[in-house]
Order: sequence, then structure tokens, then C-alpha cells
Amino acid sequence: MTGATTRQPGAEQLRSRIAAELERTRARTALLTEAVDEADLVRQHSPLMSPLVWDLAHVGNQEELWLVRDVGGREPVRRDIDDLYDAFKQPRRDRPSLPLLPPQEARAYLLTVRDKVLDLLDRVAFTDRPLVADGFAFGMIVQHEQQHDETMLATHQLRAGPAVLHAPPPPEPRASVGGEVLIPAGEFTMGTDTDPWALDNERPAHRVHLPAYVIDAAPVTNGRYREFIADGGYDDPRWWSPAGWRHRQEAGLSAPMHWRRDGDGWAYRRFGRWAPVRDDEPVVHVCYHEAWAYAAWAGRRLPTEAEWEKAARWDPATGRSRRYPWGDEDPTAEHANLGQRHLWPAPVGAYPAGASPLGVHQLVGDVWEWTSTTFRGHPGFRAFPYREYSEVFFGDDYQVLRGGSFGTDLAACRGTFRNWDYPIRRQIFSGFRCARDARPEESQP
Ligand code: AVJ
Ligand code: FE
Repeated sequence: MTGATTRQPGAEQLRSRIAAELERTRARTALLTEAVDEADLVRQHSPLMSPLVWDLAHVGNQEELWLVRDVGGREPVRRDIDDLYDAFKQPRRDRPSLPLLPPQEARAYLLTVRDKVLDLLDRVAFTDRPLVADGFAFGMIVQHEQQHDETMLATHQLRAGPAVLHAPPPPEPRASVGGEVLIPAGEFTMGTDTDPWALDNERPAHRVHLPAYVIDAAPVTNGRYREFIADGGYDDPRWWSPAGWRHRQEAGLSAPMHWRRDGDGWAYRRFGRWAPVRDDEPVVHVCYHEAWAYAAWAGRRLPTEAEWEKAARWDPATGRSRRYPWGDEDPTAEHANLGQRHLWPAPVGAYPAGASPLGVHQLVGDVWEWTSTTFRGHPGFRAFPYREYSEVFFGDDYQVLRGGSFGTDLAACRGTFRNWDYPIRRQIFSGFRCARDARPEESQP
């Protein structure tokens, strides 16, 4: 039996699900790139970011490389632009001076590629070939576009000028949440073998034993973070790691990015509008070093990546690890602040339906959470389908972030999903929560 003519059971549902995900994702890309004029699309709003029009065509080029050429085995659409949109060949700071496709050409290119992809999606057999099994390559491309959409959202946040993005405010608190949660000592399953669209760095599933520890029931809020600032936290090297203190001095850090003094308080500029800093929202736009210093000041530490994942996935009733804190079902608007439905983190207590079995809240959505772990492969890691997604970033240079932000799409977010960035970066939607070792008297069963 040859795969090409076989229509497997479930293949039609998978085909329509993939088509819907591609379309939903493209609508978000369109929103982010149609909200500004041509000049703003080609301009570099920050040396840390690409011009929006680079992200746009890069998304189409990855779709061409993986789906049109590799999965579909079709002729290239634009082999001549591959190098321009190769993130490894073109550092971000150089991207504005490249001969990029102008916005209208980039849009036309994306349409041409997408037409071919929908055509081949109609004929593809989801064979055992790992790249297409369970529609993996399509899922990877959906996630890739969603990740660049979040990057483009971060570019919008850096852009000067009046607001062009609109969304209703996040929900108000529906539960009183605070304090810390004890996670008992023991093994849990970290990573996954079974999630069909999980990326290589989330695999394989493996058992990890952790001693008892205590983790915050919610991310650290603006209110708590303001106490750290008011207590002189930014000026006291006692709280900072040596590398953190060097960075704090060189960069002149004194508050989260996008904050400014406002009378006795603080204001925070989000997507072109100034708003008073609200004390019950998770703090966002802090780098790893700031998170680390806050934790030291508070007599705590950042959680390890394994501690974050056990708090998010381990179900003490069954011993299983869930896909999400609330269970295995995909996120809805009741579970988490994801998908750019709102343009900032929701106050603590806004998502009681999204809590983990042990009562840890807002692990998924709101803010990416810094962990104390550097980015490495899980034991038994195998690069798939390309080393440049994960493996080339393994080592001591990058810290892992977990959980996803208000700007993360649900397709690019799960209890196993891993993000990473340099410890000095804070243009991303990054916050944190604290942890500590359990005291002996706390950890007795
Ligand atoms: C996983 C968010 C660190 O943006 O550099 C996009 C995702 N990889 N294109 C990044 C990614 C290739 C990646 N992060
Ligand atoms: Fe990319």
C-alpha cells in the first residue's frame, strides 16, 4: 500500500483542523501587519527587533521551505530570497538594510505560498514519515507563525506613536489568590512523547525526582515589585548576582521596561497608551537578572524549570502529568489569558478555572515566567526536524521561560512548551514567580 493514495481514518478531520489553524493564524498575522502603514512596516522600531515586513516574509519563507518544498516536494516559489529571510544569516540589526520584499510583494508571496500549501494539504497522506505523521510539519509551521506574531506584538509594544491595537481589558479577579503552595517530594513525568505537535525540545518524556518545595500561587505582582523598588532594591548589590549587577549598572536599570514615575506612583506604557501601574497585575517586562534580584530580596529564589513544570502538570490524584494545569483540554477564555485577546496581564485571581490541582494559578498565559534553568535538551533529546530550532541554542547563554503570555497563541503553548532568551532581555512579555525549598517541618507527609 502506498501512502500517496491512502486516505486514513481521521485524516479528513486532521486536514480540516490544519486548514482552520492556518487560517486563524494568518488572520492574526494580517491584523498585526495591517494595523500600521507601509513606513512603519519597513522601519526598525528597535535594534532588538526585525522590521515587521521581515517577520512577514520570513513566515512565508519557512512555510515554503517546510511545506511547499519538503512535504509537498514542489518547485521553489522564490529560492532567490531564502538567504534574506534566514535568521542565522541575517542578524536582526542588519535586517532593515537588506533588499527586503516591499509590503505588497511580501503579502503576494505569502498568498502564493499559502495557495500551494492548501492544495498539497488536500492531497497529503499523513504517513509514518515523521515530518508528516499527525500533521506535524503543519503544526510546526502554525506554531512558527504564531511565535513570530508574538514577536511582532513585542515590536508593536516598542513602537513609538499612537495606539493602533485594540482589545478589551482582561477579566477582573474571580478568586482571592495569594501565598504559596507546597509541592510534595517525589517523581513526576516531565516532557512528552505523545503530544503530536510538541517540538523537539519538549521530548522525550522522562521521570524527574524533586525534593519538596514551595512555589508562589501566582506570578509576582506590580504591587510587590514596587516594594522592591521602593526599598532600594535596584541600588543594593546584595540582591543581585554578579552578572546581574554588572548589567544593572551598564544598562542603568531602575524599574521594569516601559515604566515611568507618575506622581507618587508609576505608569506603564502599553501599545501606545499610558496607564497607571495596577498593583494586582503580574509584573511584565523584567529581565532574568531583575527577577533574580527580586527573589533574593524577598528571601526566595526562582523556580527551576522542573519545579515549574511539576507545579503546572502533576496531578497528585492520579500521579499523571497533564497537558495543562487544568487538565488535558485545550485552553478556553475561562482558563487563561492567551492569544492577544487582551493586551496586558490579567490581575491575580482572574482565572480560577485555570488553576492546577494543587492550587497554583496563572501558570499558563499572562506572562512568560523566568526559571533558573539554562536551556538544554531533555535526557535522550534528538534534534527534529532541524538543529536550528533548538539545539544550536543549548548551553549556558539562554534561560528557560515557561507558561506563555497574554500574547502567546494556544497553538504555541502547553504545559511542556519551552521558551528561552538571554538573561538581559525584557522586551518580551516576561515576568516570574518565586519558589523556595520546603522546610523539614513543612515537608512531613
Ligand atoms: C522560541 C521564541 C525563542 O523567536 O527566536 C521563531 C522561536 N524560532 N523562528 C525565537 C522561533 C525560529 C524562537 N523562540
Ligand atoms: Fe522564525
